[in-house]
Amino acid sequence: PRVIYITRHGESEDNSAGRIGGDAGLSPDGERYARALARFIDRRRVEFSAEVDEQNHRMAQFMAGSGTASGNSSEPESESSHSSAHSTTDYASLLRRVKPDFEIWTSMLRRTMETVEHFDPQRYRIKNIRSLNEIYAGKCEGMTYDEIAAQFPDEFEARQLDKFYYRYPGIGGESYADVVLRLQQVIVELERIRHSVLLVTHRAMARTLLSYFMDIPTTHMPDMELPLGHVYSCEPRPFGNFLRVWRYDP
Ligand code: F6P
Repeated sequence: PRVIYITRHGESEDNSAGRIGGDAGLSPDGERYARALARFIDRRRVEFSAEVDEQNHRMAQFMAGSGTASGNSSEPESESSHSSAHSTTDYASLLRRVKPDFEIWTSMLRRTMETVEHFDPQRYRIKNIRSLNEIYAGKCEGMTYDEIAAQFPDEFEARQLDKFYYRYPGIGGESYADVVLRLQQVIVELERIRHSVLLVTHRAMARTLLSYFMDIPTTHMPDMELPLGHVYSCEPRPFGNFLRVWRYDP
């Protein structure tokens, strides 16, 4: 059992000026979000660990034939439920061995690295991954959308017509299709590891990751509203991932 949390970085100085791309640091609001995020994840880790213990306890009872896996967790256990166990295997301790580890992955841009500065490095392994960097806007890096529309009207229109395949002009300019390819290795690694991860990344990246986990078609993905200050969590369940959304209340 594990959770994949996805969030955008805290507000950056470029966000507050309406500029795309770049490598700005956090604004004072972004810094407040960074502090709140560390407190929130600390708390969720404890809550999730308790949920997993509870689930494991019920599963162990079920496997030992002394209860139902879906039994009411609030009911107190009776002595007889233990003594009526058919098996001598200690399923509870077997299940408890799956100890949830926790990693934090950021991009290599300042705004995501600053967003995780308040996590205790003793308790969280932090990795900075270049493939999580924001979509690269080539010639349009550092511009506002209004400036792009005024200076490159054809480009602006082309992007509106086909946002998924539109590639920004200039060296290294990317499309959402490019970003999907760039994220493949990250997704393979996310699927491979068994523990929980918090991904602190950017708008286009968060759209791509969420659309992968929640099966959202690529035609809709580049227009998903994913404002700053939200944490999305995906929990693998038998029939797909279960999504929860938390909004930061400053
Ligand atoms: O404005 C923040 C930002 O992350 C930019 O750096 C990036 O170019 C943009 O969002 C991606 O969103 P969209 O694809 O809607 O322009």
